[in-house]
Amino acid sequence: MSGIRSTGNLHLGNYFGAVRNFVKMQHENRCFFFVADLHSLTTHPTPENLHSNIKTVLSEYLAAGLDPEVATLYVQSDVPEIPELYLLLNMNAYVGELERTTTFKEKIRMQPDNINAGLLTYPVLMCADIIIHNADKVPVGKDQEQNLEMARRFARRFNHMYGVEYFKMPEPYNFGQDLVKVPGLDGTGKMGKSEGNGIYLADDPKEIRRKVMRAVTDAGPQDPDSPMSEPVANLFYLLELLSTPDVVAHFRDRYNDCTIRYGDLKKQLAEDMIRFTTPVRERIREIYNDDVYLRRVVKMGAERARESASKTLGEVRKIIGYRPF
Ligand code: TRP
Repeated sequence: MSGIRSTGNLHLGNYFGAVRNFVKMQHENRCFFFVADLHSLTTHPTPENLHSNIKTVLSEYLAAGLDPEVATLYVQSDVPEIPELYLLLNMNAYVGELERTTTFKEKIRMQPDNINAGLLTYPVLMCADIIIHNADKVPVGKDQEQNLEMARRFARRFNHMYGVEYFKMPEPYNFGQDLVKVPGLDGTGKMGKSEGNGIYLADDPKEIRRKVMRAVTDAGPQDPDSPMSEPVANLFYLLELLSTPDVVAHFRDRYNDCTIRYGDLKKQLAEDMIRFTTPVRERIREIYNDDVYLRRVVKMGAERARESASKTLGEVRKIIGYRPF
């Protein structure tokens, strides 16, 4: 199971870090994927934005290849069992440990005017998302490692507190490889929605060319086989994701013998990004405008997700001690 917050368009980081794995996984596992629209409330969207953002992420999931007949695809706020489990878990989550999480500390730095309690308990809601289906494999990008660690901690604490082996321990999942961290175009750090350094699945070719041509590089290699600076290594990383091996080898050779022109590399990278995103972009537009289809997908997803969630919640309530009179 996994989810993505509905706070804007999906970018290549979301795709290669997470969604690509979802698409592969859905055929080999019983999967749940959702739009984390409750989490998105921490940024205080307007009602109009809230709805259109949910619709966008949903359309982009489907366009990227998630099959709602195969996997259970749903909107978080359609499953009230999740916030109930969140409430129950909150009683055993400690303010101290929540305050110490890196993502919370980062948020404090980035939005000092809006440090709401939802941000503090974000990892608890995320834990509820996962264990409401008693999921054990969670395909996420590297940035979610600590949140997953917290999810395991809360699940373990519940088992321990009630002396049960009820919840499985959710582990990050990436087909046996290391978690992927897709770099942005600004020279340093990961591609992110808030960083403004990303290529979106919905970007048109002009936009992609503009962004890639402006990507940060360096003065160029002075000696053969010299190590790469971070901005240049990042461009090569993206090239490896999107181009063919011979193209990558070509530019590596040009780098190593100091004849590389970054402009050529960027042009190639932009064209390969366009080749990759064009069919997806077209599907996104079609799906986004197909309200009948979207309504059917969301309804079917909510039904299946609630069936699984209410089973877990019923058992959890019983374990905690809520009994019928
Ligand atoms: N925190 C994730 C993100 O920022 C979204 C998310 C919410 C999630 N709940 C989850 C991911 C449960 C995996 C499992 O993208």
